[in-house]
Amino acid sequence: MDSIRIRGGKPLNGKIEISGAKNAALPLMVASLLTEETLTLSNLPHVADISTLISLLCQHGATAEMNGQSVSDGCSDGRSLSITADRITSTEAPYDIVRKMRAGALVMGPLLARIGKARVSLPGGCAIGTRPMNLHVSGLEQMGAEIKIVGGYMEAEAPAGLTSAEIRFETVSVGATENLLMAATLAKGTTVLENAAKEPEIIDLIQLLRQMGADIEGDGTERLVIRGVDKLHGARYRVMPDRIETGTYAIAAVITGGKIELTNTRAELIRSVLDILVEAGADVVETENGLVISRSAARINGVDIMTLPYPGYPTDMQAQMMALMTIADGAAMITETIFENRFMHVPELARLGANITVHGHSALVRGVQKLVGAPVMATDLRASVSLVLAGLAAEGETVINRVYHLDRGYERLEEKLAACGADIERIVAS
Ligand code: EPZ
Repeated sequence: MDSIRIRGGKPLNGKIEISGAKNAALPLMVASLLTEETLTLSNLPHVADISTLISLLCQHGATAEMNGQSVSDGCSDGRSLSITADRITSTEAPYDIVRKMRAGALVMGPLLARIGKARVSLPGGCAIGTRPMNLHVSGLEQMGAEIKIVGGYMEAEAPAGLTSAEIRFETVSVGATENLLMAATLAKGTTVLENAAKEPEIIDLIQLLRQMGADIEGDGTERLVIRGVDKLHGARYRVMPDRIETGTYAIAAVITGGKIELTNTRAELIRSVLDILVEAGADVVETENGLVISRSAARINGVDIMTLPYPGYPTDMQAQMMALMTIADGAAMITETIFENRFMHVPELARLGANITVHGHSALVRGVQKLVGAPVMATDLRASVSLVLAGLAAEGETVINRVYHLDRGYERLEEKLAACGADIERIVAS
């Protein structure tokens, strides 16, 4: 398995172009199953999850072309992907794919809506929590689907098609909102989703679905109204910038005491993160095409954070902010309210000298003068990148193992950081 070696302690200065958002691109790609016509997405990030989802869509019968080349195995560099699902040849989303990438389970709503059948593996728990599928299942049942759990699979049928329903989510769920939103576009009648997620990725999906001919109201609010239509058509759409990548590199500038211009992005996507960074002592200047972020003060202030659904502080930026707070003056209380087990980076940050105590859903970070490099390992994407950030600030050498987590969600990470002066390299396993 590859690893990444960082020799830390250097301020990062330069420019980083932000890629398209993985978490927006995945549901947009799944929307291709709703139409026989071609969906073309541009500004697609080149990360492992995108390739995994291409393989899943192709095994449902879709054909895919990346920059004009056929890519049924999902392995190709590129930015522009065309997917055509003119025929659905299989309604099964197998365990092997869905266990690797939970977004695979989003095919259930579109397959049910289009052909009334889906057999989708339960994704199972993962390092950050149990992550059940009850909200997806109960919403689709309220729309007329019959769903049984057999052998680890959700076996769903709606022989007479899906019908409209008024669905109230008991918790805000990005994935369940996306799944039901897609299903409702082709259901009979008007579906209302209450307590829906408001994340920018949901708005991106609504905008695409609308371009495909869907009738949806309520973008950015917790009440979405979807009037079902008979058919959707193809579309061309540009994937939004990755707000989590934007926030991650913003912290890279602040944690190393440097200055980075982030382009191809929008500050408003990470307002809650920037507010905390400014409180911690960062300077932010918004530009037409992104932002410039720097730290002029010698030290960072400790700031408390609590993760919440959008527009609150994102859980996907919790580990990175914790890395920053390890070298702050004073203490910071970090409370995780979205996932029950998202502190696996804590013992690894401690290996670099961080002083963190976890009490239930909160972690108390007492800032230390400096971190010192060490070998570390992480069990999920954002935890891994928090170790990269800590390694950039730490004195000496940090080796991060299990880099495949990073490859799932960060495009050309080493290249982007090295261009700003980081001493970082990938050690390819022989
Ligand atoms: C999306 O996951 C993101 N993934 C996650 O990013 C992100 O952390 C999460 O939203 C929250 O913002 C993608 O977009 C591909 P949820 P999702 O359904 O949709 C509970 C990353 O690092 N829940 O909003 O799976 C659930 O257990 C990843 O890029 C139920 O109880 O998250 C969690 O506690 C990690 N029942 C909470 O809701 C359900 O049926 C929010 O989960 C569904 C969810």
